[in-house]
Amino acid sequence: PVTQEKTKAVPALPDAQTVTDVKHYTDRLFSFRCTRPASLRFRSGEFVMIGLMGDPHPETGKQKPLLRAYSIASPSWDEEMEFYSIKVPDGPLTSKLQHIKVGDEVILRPKPVGTLVHDALLPGQRLWFFATGTGFAPFASLLREPQTYEDYDEVIITHTCREVGELTYGRDLIESLKQDELLNDVIGDGFWKKIKYYPTTTREESPKMGRITDLMKSGEAFADLGVEPLNAETDRAMICGNLAFNLELKEMFEGYGLEEGANSKPAHYVVEKAFLD
Ligand code: A2P
Repeated sequence: PVTQEKTKAVPALPDAQTVTDVKHYTDRLFSFRCTRPASLRFRSGEFVMIGLMGDPHPETGKQKPLLRAYSIASPSWDEEMEFYSIKVPDGPLTSKLQHIKVGDEVILRPKPVGTLVHDALLPGQRLWFFATGTGFAPFASLLREPQTYEDYDEVIITHTCREVGELTYGRDLIESLKQDELLNDVIGDGFWKKIKYYPTTTREESPKMGRITDLMKSGEAFADLGVEPLNAETDRAMICGNLAFNLELKEMFEGYGLEEGANSKPAHYVVEKAFLD
């Protein structure tokens, strides 16, 4: 009877939201959408804590939420929430989260925070998004945010991944902007022509190979894009990738004369670490 009670006593998830869509891209990457809490307001580019209930405690049978910080990949106006995730075989959360299906529940703590927001940047002419892997997620939100095109003349997004298949989520998202009714209405036809997309791979053959950091150091990326290197007067940037990538770009930016900003002190660029389980 004891074990029966334990399995029966599973409580409804706290802050539960219902999964509405799941897409798998590679054996390492997937995205999902879920319902949005009616009272949740956030700024495009922010993150929230999401997760599932952990395994029952071996003795007490109690379950605790297993939560991680996830960038919200959907824009602030969307009636649903979208997330883009890595699958780590032995990752405490993603080893389970990768199996979610439409109709399942996830925990979503409705307390959005983050520095990859327009408020943390001074006005500028050109906005750069630098991502590796799942670091694309906050930019999937910002690329669907009208303010991005109201505030800047040009938006350049670079995405470096190991393999070609890991670029699919970002490529599809950028392609979908052309048909985005809200952006076309609010910003006007052809707003997407302001976007320059620069995908690169490091471990599988593709039209542009190499780390974006190396391609910038050699000048190749700027030549390909037909733009000048970043400068503090015109350029603003947001960085979201693995730790080594973030640190290397920060160092390069300081060399270009750009200063790091924050919500309390807007400046030229902002950084956030991409989630790794
Ligand atoms: P590489 O294959 O040369 O390590 P990960 O999946 O490990 O997070 O890496 C995602 C992408 O980021 C990979 O293409 C990886 O390239 C690249 N990367 C890792 N470290 C850096 C760095 N310091 N600067 C630029 N790109 C990096």
